[in-house]
Amino acid sequence: MRAELETLKSEALQALEHVQNSKQLAEWRSRFLGKRGALTQLMRRMGQVPPEERPAVGRLANEIKQALEAAYAERAEAIRRAELEETLQRDAVDVTLPGRPPAMGRLHPSTRTLREIERIFADLGFQVYRARDVELDEYNFQLLNIPPHHPARDMQDTFYVDDGGDSESRTVLLRTHTSPGQIHAMREFAAMNPDDPPPVRIILPGMCYRHEQITARSEIQFHQVEGLAVGRRITMADLKGTIEYFVRRMFGPERQLRFRASHFPFTEPSAEVDMDCMLCQGKGCRVCKYTGWLEIMGCGMVHPNVLRNGGYDPERYTGFAFGMGPERIAMLKYGIEDIRYFWQNDLRFLEQF
Ligand code: PHE
Repeated sequence: MRAELETLKSEALQALEHVQNSKQLAEWRSRFLGKRGALTQLMRRMGQVPPEERPAVGRLANEIKQALEAAYAERAEAIRRAELEETLQRDAVDVTLPGRPPAMGRLHPSTRTLREIERIFADLGFQVYRARDVELDEYNFQLLNIPPHHPARDMQDTFYVDDGGDSESRTVLLRTHTSPGQIHAMREFAAMNPDDPPPVRIILPGMCYRHEQITARSEIQFHQVEGLAVGRRITMADLKGTIEYFVRRMFGPERQLRFRASHFPFTEPSAEVDMDCMLCQGKGCRVCKYTGWLEIMGCGMVHPNVLRNGGYDPERYTGFAFGMGPERIAMLKYGIEDIRYFWQNDLRFLEQF
């Protein structure tokens, strides 16, 4: 019996050395230490041992059991570690790998530019006034001193929505400029106090539409920002000062301006504003077409007929107006060479802003 116990012990310990994983470990345990394991089987035969030897054999059996339990525990721990190590290796996460940044939303360059323009004029006390995109011929043209057959209409080929039956005034169209908003705004302001209308100081940003050939320089839709100031004793000096302030904040304090006589039916006198080219500092380059100057907006003193149409008596009130294209402003500011980029939704372009 002693010899058998010793043999069992060495057999078990030897077998344990070959145990590689928890499955084999469990097998080993039931084989040697389980309820029907080899040791239990041996112990069952204790009755065959002469009584005087039983205590010693029993002690030996217990020692062997403890030794095997201890060896088992040690092996189990080693296997647990090895298996943990293996899982860690296999499922390793490289924490030093740079993460994937979420794609960041951006404002469209037109929106950015519009907001910048609005900010600058807000600092001068101009309110934002929103007018409609779909207009009547009456507002888009007639009330702005552009009669039905005025040649100025040729410049603004129009998208018509409805021919208005036999009334030219009722013809519905997409506005070709933001200037009809001048009439809506003045009428709304004048209605507050028709005998003594309040002063107006607003900008009107919005989309405009022209039925034109799309080229690098012209789109069928584009934004404009209209400006309008009406009050007593407003002069062309106010217009010049306002525009100069705007341009120097938008393009830098060193910018020089030139007011060139021009014509718009709704302003008198009218001018176009040129700014010295900020790319070549007026020396002449491709962007300014070697003139040193960039045209940035149209402007003028509000025509008496337009004031009257807005409910302001031209004998008592004067005003100035201007209109600029934020896409053009953005093109100059960011060196964008083709206006078609704005509505093509090409992320390679949009992501640069
Ligand atoms: N409405 C003119 C245009 O579309 C711009 C302008 C606005 C000119 C206000 C003078 C005054 O070209």
